[in-house]
Amino acid sequence: MTDRRTDHPTTIAILGGTGALGRGLAVRFARAGIRVRLGSRDADRAQTRAAAITERPGVPSGSVTGHVTDEAVGDAEVVVLCTPYDAQAATLDAVRDQLAGRVLVSCVNPLRFDADGPHPVAVPEGSAAQAAAARVPDARVVAPLPHRPAAALDAAHGGDDHARAVAAQLGRIRDPEQTPSARILRAMRDGPVPFFRFAMDASERHARHFRDHPLDPASQSRFQEQSAESLRRQSEIEAADSMDFATYRQQYIEQELLPGRTPATAGTG
Ligand SMILES: NC(=O)c1ccc[n+]([C@@H]2O[C@H](COP(=O)([O-])OP(=O)(O)OC[C@H]3O[C@@H](n4cnc5c(N)ncnc54)[C@H](OP(=O)(O)O)[C@@H]3O)[C@@H](O)[C@H]2O)c1
Repeated sequence: MTDRRTDHPTTIAILGGTGALGRGLAVRFARAGIRVRLGSRDADRAQTRAAAITERPGVPSGSVTGHVTDEAVGDAEVVVLCTPYDAQAATLDAVRDQLAGRVLVSCVNPLRFDADGPHPVAVPEGSAAQAAAARVPDARVVAPLPHRPAAALDAAHGGDDHARAVAAQLGRIRDPEQTPSARILRAMRDGPVPFFRFAMDASERHARHFRDHPLDPASQSRFQEQSAESLRRQSEIEAADSMDFATYRQQYIEQELLPGRTPATAGTG
C-alpha cells in the first residue's frame, strides 16, 4: 500500500538487510515513518538486527521486523536488494514469484573481495541491476546508485575529466608516496624521526611561516568571521544533541559488532 498523502511506500523490504548498507537504510526509512521488513538467510539474525535498529533514536517501536529471506517481502511495495553481487542470483530466486509487479531497487555493486581488496566483476548483462532484471523479469528494477565506467561518463558529458580522475587515483594506489600520509611516513623513516618530533617540527615550521607572512587585514577579518560562524554552528549542534555518551557508545558498538566480537573487544582495532 502507498501513503496517498506522500506517494511514499508504507512498507519496504530489504533483502540482505543485516549488512552495513541494509541496516543504514533501514534506520533512515523507519525514521521517515516507513515500516521495514529486514531479510536475511537467518531468521534469528534478522530479528536481532531489527530489534537493535528499533532501539536507535527516532526509530518508532515495532517499525522494523526481521524475517528469513523468502518471507521478507510480505506486503512491501518496494524491495531493496542489499546483498553482495555473488549472492544476488540465489536471493532473487528465493523470492522471484513475490517480486512480480513490485519495484526492486538494486544497490548491488558487481564486486568481489579478496585479500587485495575489491575487484570488479564482469557482468554479461551490463550491470548488476540488468542482471537482476533478467533474473526477475516481472519486477520493475531500478538502480539508484549505479557504478558507471569513467569512459561512459566522458562519452555522455564530453571531455576526459572522469578518465583522468580515475587514472590519478589509480596512480596513487600504485605509488603510495603520492599520498600525504605516505609522504609523512617517508619523511619519518628517512629522518629517522619519531612522530612527535616530526609533528612538532611541522608545527614550528608553519608557525614561522605565518609569523614571517602576516595576513592582510581583509583576510584576517574574513578568517575571524568564519571562525565565529563555525563556533556558532558547533554550539547549535551541541545544543541539539540530547544523547548521553554512554548510550551513544553502546549504540555505536552494537552497530559495528561483528560475529565473534564482544562489546569489550569491539572498537579496539
Ligand atoms: N551503491 C552504493 O553506494 C553502495 C554502497 C554500499 C554498498 N553497496 C552494495 O550494496 C550491497 C550490500 O553492501 P553491504 O556492505 O551491506 O554488504 P554485506 O554486509 O557484505 O552483505 C549484506 C548481507 O548480505 C547477506 N549475504 C552475504 N553473503 C551472502 C551470500 N553468499 N549469500 C546470501 N546472502 C549473503 C548477509 O546477510 P545474512 O548473512 O544475514 O543473510 C549480509 O549481511 C553490496 O552489493 C555492495 O556492493 C552499494
